[in-house]
Amino acid sequence: MQRTIQNELGEIKKQGLLRSTRVISGRQAARVMCNGLDVLLLCSNNYLGLADHPALSAASIAAIQRYGTSSGASRLVSGTMELHEELERAVASFKKSEAALVFNSGHAANTGIIPALVGRGDVVFSDRLNHASIVDGIILSGARLVRYPHNDYRALSHLMEKHAKGRSLIVSDGVFSMDGDIAPLAELAEIKQRYGALLMVDDAHGSGVLGERGRGSADLCGVGNDVDIQMGTFGKALGSFGAYAAVSAELRDLLINRARSFIFSTALPPSVLAASLAAVELVQTPEGDTLREQLDANTRFFRDSLADAGFKLPEGSTQIVPIVIGSAVTTMQFSEALLAEGLFAQGIRPPTVPAGTSRLRFTLMATHTHADVAAAVERICHVGRRLGVV
Ligand SMILES: Cc1ncc(COP(=O)(O)O)c(C=O)c1O
Repeated sequence: MQRTIQNELGEIKKQGLLRSTRVISGRQAARVMCNGLDVLLLCSNNYLGLADHPALSAASIAAIQRYGTSSGASRLVSGTMELHEELERAVASFKKSEAALVFNSGHAANTGIIPALVGRGDVVFSDRLNHASIVDGIILSGARLVRYPHNDYRALSHLMEKHAKGRSLIVSDGVFSMDGDIAPLAELAEIKQRYGALLMVDDAHGSGVLGERGRGSADLCGVGNDVDIQMGTFGKALGSFGAYAAVSAELRDLLINRARSFIFSTALPPSVLAASLAAVELVQTPEGDTLREQLDANTRFFRDSLADAGFKLPEGSTQIVPIVIGSAVTTMQFSEALLAEGLFAQGIRPPTVPAGTSRLRFTLMATHTHADVAAAVERICHVGRRLGVV
């Protein structure tokens, strides 16, 4: 019997996995209008509030006035504008790397970089909880995928002993996007050295937030110089859009020649590049430090209060705070009930997380007030008790 689209949608719904979009009106701020309700936003990656910062908007508007609205072509045709290279120099200086290359998104970076580095006959060692775009990049590369248990560097070492062949690449999220814990990057750097492998860190959630001046998770772990590819995104803490790879000059040349998502896609427009540039500058100023301190204070208070109320939080210290519920249906009931109480926290279900680990993934922002966070905790506890989650 032919599989119809209606049947397929029915099947997704039966499993409690049907997804739909919720619409935000107005700006991405700490409070938003969502489906017509005034709610506290607790699931945005706009961690420092820069998506709503006047310096980024002003830079973007000025870039449109000076350069227009589009790059008009891919980077290797006529799409490389002064702003692309200015941003790349700023990122290299921020990350203390020899060079940097800008990509159109984090997904495009991961699906471009990995196949540029490895192919048939090579092996990629990938943390079991790595982001889907890393997995997509590995599949596209044709290299063998060896998954190691989450953050288990001893198991990684054994697996490398057994399977390392051709060129080996170790790849890990810096901060795990759905779990909020940090990869053991010092240990991964030691292992990559021992096996002569390449090490790539996806720092989508650490860029701008962790380490000195927000330089990221590798800086926090003291291994900024040992990570061959530090990939990061501009669309989260940096309040803009797109991604970068901080690499050696040689690797940059290779990516320009081999990364298909870089070669075969129209380059980012001036408005986006200018906002990213303003953000990279801003996170390194005292204002950036203040925003990180506010984010950290909100995170500590939120984590401690939920733990005191009896919620079992997974190991972690970052602004990403999951409450793992298990059932996809209960997770969505929790999310709906919170929305009715004025809190927008999205339920996360498979395939984004492994089956049986559906969760509410809360994210804190520097622009939440202490009163916002305290009121949120109270409501989460109230709804959690009502649903028997705590
Ligand atoms: C760890 C990680 N890597 C990559 C991406 C993709 O980045 P982008 O949204 O810029 O495509 C995301 C999230 O979107 C992510 O969480």
